[in-house]
Amino acid sequence: MSNLRVSPNPVEDLAGQLEIAARESVAARGRFSLALSGGSTPRALYELLATPDWKSRFEWEQCDVFFGDERAVAPDDALSNFKMASEALLRHVPARVHRMEGERVDLGSAARDYETRLRALGGPLDVVLLGLGDDGHTASLFPHSPQLNEVEGWVTATPIAPMEPRVRRLTLSFPAINAARKVWFLVSGVGKAERVAEVLDGPRDVERLPSQGVAPQNGELVWFLDEEAARDVSR
Ligand code: 6PG
Repeated sequence: MSNLRVSPNPVEDLAGQLEIAARESVAARGRFSLALSGGSTPRALYELLATPDWKSRFEWEQCDVFFGDERAVAPDDALSNFKMASEALLRHVPARVHRMEGERVDLGSAARDYETRLRALGGPLDVVLLGLGDDGHTASLFPHSPQLNEVEGWVTATPIAPMEPRVRRLTLSFPAINAARKVWFLVSGVGKAERVAEVLDGPRDVERLPSQGVAPQNGELVWFLDEEAARDVSR
């Protein structure tokens, strides 16, 4: 069952929930692990978390930051999710950052190495942030792609993506995402409204709408939406 949190400012709402989750994780396990989503929507969240008021609410030294996916580009490339997150947040806080090495020629080896780093956590990710693509993808799990059928591995390399940027990707798999304690979608804008409603209310078809494959086994699933993106959802 998905929980919806619809608000005028889902970025601020999610930041508040992240503060709570981080505090609880550090208190319970001495650390907080977070996988960042890419694209354009989360930049505002990362910039907010880097402001003096918000930055001080987290024990960043206890935080391990991973990525949900990365494009097969250099880390200083404008298309890199790492570059976006670094400029907006990561270069401003003393977190342990675990970058996906999208620049490696052998992406399969990069995926295996990243999985090793992720599993070294010794448990599931505390929070996985996700976005929703116009085609219903999330992370770099694209419609009708072989990665949707990955049941063992936690990180896989994809073929060239079917939408911009049309480059290969590294992505967390459904097993990695669905093992997380909390999986949060952040979606905003009327342009996503139809797809949000299709994913949440429409018939289940993970091949066509990969975001429907996000179903945490023991964790929580929350959609942080603004009114525009939630316009067509039955509530
Ligand atoms: C990526 C993201 C991707 C993104 C969606 C939504 O690397 O592009 O991980 O899954 O979250 O495509 O992107 P926007 O926020 O730009 O609409």
